Amino acid sequence: MAQVHISDHPLVKHKLTMLRDMKTEHKKFRELVREIAILMAYEATYDMGLRDVIVTSPLGRASGYNLQEKIGLVPVLRAGLGMVDGIWEMMPSAEVWHIGLFRDEETLRPVEYYNKLPVSPTVDVCLVLDPMLATGGSAVAVVNILKEWGARRIKFVGIIASPEGVERLSQAHPDVPVYVAAVDESLNENGLIVPGLGDAGDRQFGTG
Ligand code: PRP
Repeated sequence: MAQVHISDHPLVKHKLTMLRDMKTEHKKFRELVREIAILMAYEATYDMGLRDVIVTSPLGRASGYNLQEKIGLVPVLRAGLGMVDGIWEMMPSAEVWHIGLFRDEETLRPVEYYNKLPVSPTVDVCLVLDPMLATGGSAVAVVNILKEWGARRIKFVGIIASPEGVERLSQAHPDVPVYVAAVDESLNENGLIVPGLGDAGDRQFGTG
């Protein structure tokens, strides 16, 4: 079974509740996506490798650490875009690689429309950023793309998931841990998570 990490942090729970609320407007929605993304990335990066270093403080030498691994942030367009900036501020040396997918409205299957990955991997760990894991089709497709690229360590960092999405991703890629703020009850016939938060892309960009 999948390595699914559901945040138990009160800040995440509080902010997720505001995100679900249909009265929350686009501007506030974007702020919340950004903030929750930072908190989820904090949880997802707890095991990053460190290198010992010595620095000199005003009062003397101090032993400390540098991050050893090169992190790649992989936002899934469009909705994953809102998760990038906050996380990037926390880890400014990360590289950002965009992958564009949309779901065909009838089949709900992901269609790739943008991919600018370089020929070979330039990072040690990829964090796939997408607020929604619904049928799981998009996440599986992105992980397939990253593995074909040669990525060795991949983590999915989202906000909300359905049980079906978690199951599908973990069946296809049991080595990819999933970090989300919540796993909801179900998916509806339109492939939206219920009760969920609506369509995260539309609510961020005002297109709903
Ligand atoms: C949403 C969401 C995911 C995908 C999840 O994107 O951001 O990428 O659907 O669904 P799945 O798990 O069933 O594949 P959408 O296709 O609505 O595109 P958008 O981000 O451009 O709005």
